[in-house]
Amino acid sequence: MLEALRIGMLGFGTVGRGVADLLLNHPDLLANRAGIPLRLVRIATRNPERDRGLALGSVEVTGNVHRVVDATDLDVVVELIGGIIPTRDLVHRALESGKHVITANKALIAEYGPDLFALAHSKGVQLGIEAAVAGAVPIIKTLRESLAGNRIDSVYGILNGTCNYILTEMRAKGLPFARVLADAQAKGFAEADPSFDIDGIDAAHKLAILSAIAFGTPLDYGRILKEGIRHVSETDIAWANEMGYRIKLLAMSRLREGLMEMTVRPVMVPVGSMVAAVEGVFNAVFVHGDYAGTTMYHGRGAGERPTASAVVADLMDLARDLRAGAKERVPSLSVPVHHLRTLPIQSAAQRQGSFYIRMAVVDRPGVLAEITAILARHAISIDAIHQKGRSPVEAVPLVMVTHESTEERITQALIEIEQLDSVREPPRSIRIEAGLA
Ligand SMILES: NC(=O)c1ccc[n+]([C@@H]2O[C@H](COP(=O)([O-])OP(=O)(O)OC[C@H]3O[C@@H](n4cnc5c(N)ncnc54)[C@H](OP(=O)(O)O)[C@@H]3O)[C@@H](O)[C@H]2O)c1
Repeated sequence: MLEALRIGMLGFGTVGRGVADLLLNHPDLLANRAGIPLRLVRIATRNPERDRGLALGSVEVTGNVHRVVDATDLDVVVELIGGIIPTRDLVHRALESGKHVITANKALIAEYGPDLFALAHSKGVQLGIEAAVAGAVPIIKTLRESLAGNRIDSVYGILNGTCNYILTEMRAKGLPFARVLADAQAKGFAEADPSFDIDGIDAAHKLAILSAIAFGTPLDYGRILKEGIRHVSETDIAWANEMGYRIKLLAMSRLREGLMEMTVRPVMVPVGSMVAAVEGVFNAVFVHGDYAGTTMYHGRGAGERPTASAVVADLMDLARDLRAGAKERVPSLSVPVHHLRTLPIQSAAQRQGSFYIRMAVVDRPGVLAEITAILARHAISIDAIHQKGRSPVEAVPLVMVTHESTEERITQALIEIEQLDSVREPPRSIRIEAGLA
């Protein structure tokens, strides 16, 4: 009979501190709900002597990760170091030694999850990942358990708070991307090297995990089409506003006629939609299931306490399962690893939608006719044209909204339009997603 869940932790930074704080603050509440105490035994971190401002009591803090990974007096290792090196080896080693692992590390899971889940399965241990996607928002458990009876056809949302904060600020203050990014870095909302966030990598890691669980497919981060927000200008945001849209970095996986579409990119969504209402650093995930319809999950996607809440939810599940003698009651990816099936992915010629196109043109007679002739040759029809200002010398913005077309046609047409003498900058296009919740 298990007397306590004995926990070892790797990393004592933002999330690690939050997890330790929660475990030390709520011992009775957790023990009461889990049926056994959750006991934090040991923490291994790079600088063990650094004061974290917590009364740690009997918790041992060490600089030696092997005191956690190879320990025989622990049931579970909570990995909160982040990145791939040395975490991949440490997690591998912990699983290999028969310990359960819980991690908030989406990069590790998105890129090396298949091996790690297979190893966990072969060792009969759990690999918990609730904190890896959308912080406090309980989307992993919801997909795996609460929506388990549904055939899911789409899961989408705002999975990167840094990008959402930047886009929100650009719109609210009319400022350019670079200034808002610098401000976000000064406030600690963006990393010194922000590329993981602003190039869509972090959101794609999270989407890879959600897609695998929602559609029963193997984790496949490499198949996600990624485009970040570096090229979103304040001009695009102002036009979107004028036309009744917001620009959001949307992570989206949907299944249409047996084909998957997996994208992370800036899109325009109607101002009145729920997606548009997700502002600042918040995250939200929307799921459409055939019986549940659309459900929405909203909350803080990062931070010490919200992420700790998700890590401890996995610890609670583990404690309850161990106490009940349940083994792999709920597989980490919803179905056992050997049941995962790859689905074909849509090509650019199959991805359909309407588009916002912005060009900078010199307003000479015949320019519009040249542009519309190229669009017509690619079978792209136009829903609306907007032009501001007139100048035969300086470029002025010309904005078009297309009817449904394929992405391939749009790309080809824009390559030809860019060659025209009267077009002064590479045209920009942004997909319009008018049908979201
Ligand atoms: N921060 C968030 O809001 C958030 C949200 C969701 C998910 N996550 C994920 O949670 C994980 C941790 O993020 P975090 O923000 O807590 O990171 P963090 O504040 O940078 O903390 C990382 C911790 O790991 C320790 N560490 C680094 N390299 C180490 C090594 N080689 N050996 C032992 N310890 C080492 C550091 O030690 P010292 O402090 O001793 O120097 C630090 O305590 C990441 O995977 C991240 O993606 C974070």
